[in-house]
Amino acid sequence: MPAQDDENDILSLKHHLVNWLFTPLYLLVLFSTVTGYIAALKLSNQPYDIVLIERARLMASRFDLAAEGALPRQDELLPNGARGLVYSLFDRRGQLVLGNASLPRPRPADWSAQGTKLRDTIYGGGKVRLLTLRFQTTRRMPGSEFVLVLAEPDDDRLALGRSILGNIVIPQFIFILIAGLAVWLGFKRGFEPLEKLRQVVAKRRGDDLRPLDDSMAPGEIRPLIQEVNALIARLKLTMEQQKNFIANAAHQLRTPFAGLRAQAELARREDAPPAIKAALEGICEGAGRCSRLVTQLLTLVRNEPEARAGIPMQSLDLHRIAQEAAMQWVPEAMTRQIDLGYESGSVQLPVFGDEHALRDLIDNLLDNAIRYTPNGGHITLRTGYERGAWLRVEDNGRGIPPEERTRVFDRFYRVSGSGQPGSGLGLAIVSEVAQRHGAAVEIEDATDGVGTIFVIRFPHHAEAV
Ligand SMILES: Nc1ncnc2c1ncn2[C@@H]1O[C@H](COP(=O)(O)OP(=O)(O)OP(=O)(O)O)[C@@H](O)[C@H]1O
Ligand SMILES: [Mg+2]
Repeated sequence: MPAQDDENDILSLKHHLVNWLFTPLYLLVLFSTVTGYIAALKLSNQPYDIVLIERARLMASRFDLAAEGALPRQDELLPNGARGLVYSLFDRRGQLVLGNASLPRPRPADWSAQGTKLRDTIYGGGKVRLLTLRFQTTRRMPGSEFVLVLAEPDDDRLALGRSILGNIVIPQFIFILIAGLAVWLGFKRGFEPLEKLRQVVAKRRGDDLRPLDDSMAPGEIRPLIQEVNALIARLKLTMEQQKNFIANAAHQLRTPFAGLRAQAELARREDAPPAIKAALEGICEGAGRCSRLVTQLLTLVRNEPEARAGIPMQSLDLHRIAQEAAMQWVPEAMTRQIDLGYESGSVQLPVFGDEHALRDLIDNLLDNAIRYTPNGGHITLRTGYERGAWLRVEDNGRGIPPEERTRVFDRFYRVSGSGQPGSGLGLAIVSEVAQRHGAAVEIEDATDGVGTIFVIRFPHHAEAV
């Protein structure tokens, strides 16, 4: 969902951090780069200007050294090493006396100014630093007042300016990079506990309403987690109230349904017109279903974690419990001509658990096996030990399609077309009990492709029974 991602991005702390920390920081660097560039150019001009002024003065002093009435020679005026320097000399009348005629002529201000004047201009297609020096010779010459114009290319100054700028800007960029890295690392480390908390919450079962551990969360987030915990506590209370209500309602309904069923059974035995008999039959069946639903509801509520919290778990022998359960279901199986057998690979199977709950689990598995296996079928209850006790219920009934195998554990879920009455709570009870015992429940394919195999694997429990 890109729109959702955009929204998350805008709300994210990282987004705010980048906006409020890095944007001003980048602007600051931009500003300091521009001002640094100007300052670097100024700085790089200074030493070159001093040298240029000195050179001009030196050139002017050559006039004093020249022979009386003569002008200095070209090579005397421009000493060696004056790379790229171009000059011109004008007399008081503005006539070019010596040097390059293409250089800009001195302006009136240059004549009025005392000493040297410096400015930037364009000459010969490039930027140059132009110096004008007004001077007088002490020797007698035709017109003893001159203006020397000296042009120096800007290349060296720019190179120096750029290297100064580089020395300012590069450390600043490195500083921003280090700051960015430090902030990113800080963020990552600061959010690690939150990420762990997220993973813990993601793995939780929907009915696990224990408070979240806020001890590792950053101080700023802790109040939020505490509020979430308070909300969980309120939710837990509401859910408990709802469960209590269901349990109470089921309790209240139990006796009237049992009474209704008994009355209907009694009435059915009396002589009555066929229509009334059929109606009584329906009432009996309906009352029976209601009683079954109420019983299953009560069993489920009894096996929910909150209800079982106070009941202690103990060392038990799964072999004994399974054997007793199988024996109790034999008469029911016989009414359907189903062969119900029990096989155990071990005489003692230690499990740590709650006997009532384990009986509920086995009863529901056997009830289903009998209910969904046609008359004359076979059911085998097996137990054994392999890294923990296990229990299998195998039947050769209608089977459960693979795509239904997770859903059948949902409350009130029934596979359509099962042809049997039921409330859809039996396997939910099995699942609750297994979870409470840390056991895994699996539905396997029958070996010959006909029927269902339920396998419950309990965790290892070494204690002797
Ligand atoms: N051994 C089995 N063979 C075939 N189908 C089964 C078997 N056990 C369960 N099922 C299917 O799974 C569904 C859910 O079973 P579950 O025991 O939860 O509910 P139920 O048997 O319909 O009702 P009740 O609450 O009375 O047990 C059943 O409706 C049935 O279709
Ligand atoms: Mg059932």
